[in-house]
Amino acid sequence: MKQFGATIVGTGSYTPERILTNHDLEQMVDTSDEWIQARTGIRERHIAAPQQATSDLAFEAAKSALAQAGCRADDIDLIIVATISPDRPFPNTACFLQKKLGADQAACFSLEAACSGFVYALQVAASLIRTGAHRRALVVGAEKISMFVDWQDRNTCVLFGDGAGAVVLEATTPESDIFLAANMGADGSYAELLTVPAGGSQMPPSRQAIEAKKQYLKMEGREVFKLAVNAMVESAKSVMREAGLESSQLRWLIPHQANTRIIQAVGKRLAVPEANVFMNLDKYGNTSAATIPICLDQLNRGGHLTRGDYVLMVAFGGGLTWGASLLRWPGTEP
Ligand code: UT7
Repeated sequence: MKQFGATIVGTGSYTPERILTNHDLEQMVDTSDEWIQARTGIRERHIAAPQQATSDLAFEAAKSALAQAGCRADDIDLIIVATISPDRPFPNTACFLQKKLGADQAACFSLEAACSGFVYALQVAASLIRTGAHRRALVVGAEKISMFVDWQDRNTCVLFGDGAGAVVLEATTPESDIFLAANMGADGSYAELLTVPAGGSQMPPSRQAIEAKKQYLKMEGREVFKLAVNAMVESAKSVMREAGLESSQLRWLIPHQANTRIIQAVGKRLAVPEANVFMNLDKYGNTSAATIPICLDQLNRGGHLTRGDYVLMVAFGGGLTWGASLLRWPGTEP
């Protein structure tokens, strides 16, 4: 028996000031606005300033989520930051965020599941709240993914952007729990398809690693594309089955924003009308773990979420990892 339920009481997001357009990229690599728009759907992305760390992006998103929740930083007893672009190897990015916020009552850790990180983190936080171990959690997806981008590699540099999104979760009664079903999955046998080879314990930073450009993100785009569609469809179907919902009942499908063609294929296979599939990647590109909370905040603040709306978030990323979370929107004030 669940002791408590979990609900969302605030959302926030932040993207850095600097915008890098497809036309800017045309000056940097052999590409074109036409190719990028046709193959990915992306028109521009935000890039963090050199002095901005991931926790700085997280801080802006978190402040805004806390303000909407109407709670102070020291009301928070758990901070999870989903990221693959941490401030440092350690201490974890959530600790840097805690210090910036003054959230001195919080336990802090980061969670590394690439683009699926926020969906994973949400499930972990909701589960901890349900047990009664924590009462109010700040869950953030934040990435300075540009730190891994090789600006000479046209296969990858056009795809990514920086940003952060956050939600505040709070304990409620089991009857008011908004999280209807969730799942998380992974297949490490595909690890090489999307990876940053150097910088960890396997290949510590070294002059040789840098000369071989191993500190940059590598991706087998075509392979990842196929796996992404299948994994997101299966993950989404599984949570709908568990909750006993049909896709026609969804107000919003929020898929990870990597490529318009992936999103359209997922929407079509799930039979969700285009009008109910949220897309913002034209303006942000793929912001990894920040993508889904940024989307959620934009829907919330844009007044596109009404109490009782069914919202299905589904993600896919390096690992390979995937996950979905289905919720019934509680209704926070924009
Ligand atoms: O974050 C979660 C995981 N990531 C994803 O889900 C991304 C999944 N993959 C994709 O979105 C797509 O595979 C890409 C957008 C990365 C690539 O699109 P594609 O339609 O699969 O293109 P492709 O890799 O098959 O490449 C087609 C051609 C190649 O030329 P050749 O070999 O046919 O002569 C590429 O060299 O397009 C070329 N190309 C480019 N041309 C202009 C690749 N990047 C560019 C570029 N500009 N930026």
